[in-house]
Amino acid sequence: MMKKPLILKINPQEPEIKKIQIAADIIKKGGLVAFPTETVYGLGADALNSRAVLSLFEAKNRPLDNPPIIHVENMKQVQELVKKVTYEAKMVMSEFWPGPLTLVFKRSDIVPNTTTAGLSTIAVRMPQHKVALALISESNCPIAAPSANLAGRPSATSAEHVFADLNGRIDAIVDGGTTQIGVESTVLDMSVTPPQILRPGGVSFESLKNSLDDLELHPFVVTRKKLPIDKVRSPGMRHKHYAPNAEVIVVEGEVQMIVCKVTELLRHYRFMGKKVGVLATDETIGLYGTAYAKSLGSRSNLDSIAKNLFRLLRDFEIEGVETIIAEGVSAKGIGLAIMNRLRKASGYNIVKAE
Ligand code: TXA
Ligand code: MG
Repeated sequence: MMKKPLILKINPQEPEIKKIQIAADIIKKGGLVAFPTETVYGLGADALNSRAVLSLFEAKNRPLDNPPIIHVENMKQVQELVKKVTYEAKMVMSEFWPGPLTLVFKRSDIVPNTTTAGLSTIAVRMPQHKVALALISESNCPIAAPSANLAGRPSATSAEHVFADLNGRIDAIVDGGTTQIGVESTVLDMSVTPPQILRPGGVSFESLKNSLDDLELHPFVVTRKKLPIDKVRSPGMRHKHYAPNAEVIVVEGEVQMIVCKVTELLRHYRFMGKKVGVLATDETIGLYGTAYAKSLGSRSNLDSIAKNLFRLLRDFEIEGVETIIAEGVSAKGIGLAIMNRLRKASGYNIVKAE
């Protein structure tokens, strides 16, 4: 059993180089360091050190068939990791990098099999967060970093969430405060024609569509049901995701209808003797009487909803809520990522309000 992680409090706007160097030394020696990105916290290891990457999977209890995203700081690192960067990919990178977009390419031979889980492709992202960029630069290697949570749980949007899941399992946490976007990056597969979104995230479908004439959403991204395994292409699609230690039910439809349905379900589950929490919005939270409710933010500000989502799921869990009834929101813009995470967190326990 590892000891408590070293906690390095850092200024997210102007990271202190001394602290970055301490973290980078751990990475260089094959250790595990959690660090903030603009989306969620990542758990980093040297992507070219297969032993380090293996310990990354172990620390998270992550299935070995689900490869992490490789974080880079410059284009030279991309060239080394992938077979070919197409013209189309260059266009997308110049528009959205650094940022919350991950691109899947055919991989080069320098990448260990452990890092790509034996796949012929690799997922690469240049994050925007100053701490992440400084850490990659000082480590002098691409950094493999899945989200810094135990496998299957909501991603960590603060150092406290990382600690709650990974205390005793990792070497250090660089604490740069709360992450800005709150849901993970968009995963866009550039190794197929036309390019396909495998996971919606911080860069919306609509804005990618402006840069790519031909762009598809993988059916899994929009599904309201579990799809059979042969239909899933990204390894992450096979596994349980984002779920707190509570039953989650998502209610979808028009807002008024949602409120009626949530009220009905609330009564039902309370009658069953459950401790119930409602994941509501600013516009609706007052309508549930004295019910135990938390607001994700305003329906007219989906960015705030994305930012609060994982934290509120974890807060309900800490407070011992057994059933979380969550209001659905619009699936436009970042709303697609929000609904994708909520549906998965519920294990597709979705109720249509009509
Ligand atoms: O915002 C993010 O993307 C965060 C921060 C830390 O960068 N990272 C993150 O990593 O969410 P992770 O490992 O939790 O999710 C990576 C996703 C998984 O769904 C995985 O299956 C997919 O990317 N992925 C990785 N390599 C892939 C590949 N070669 N082909 C298709 N999907 C891949
Ligand atoms: Mg993850």
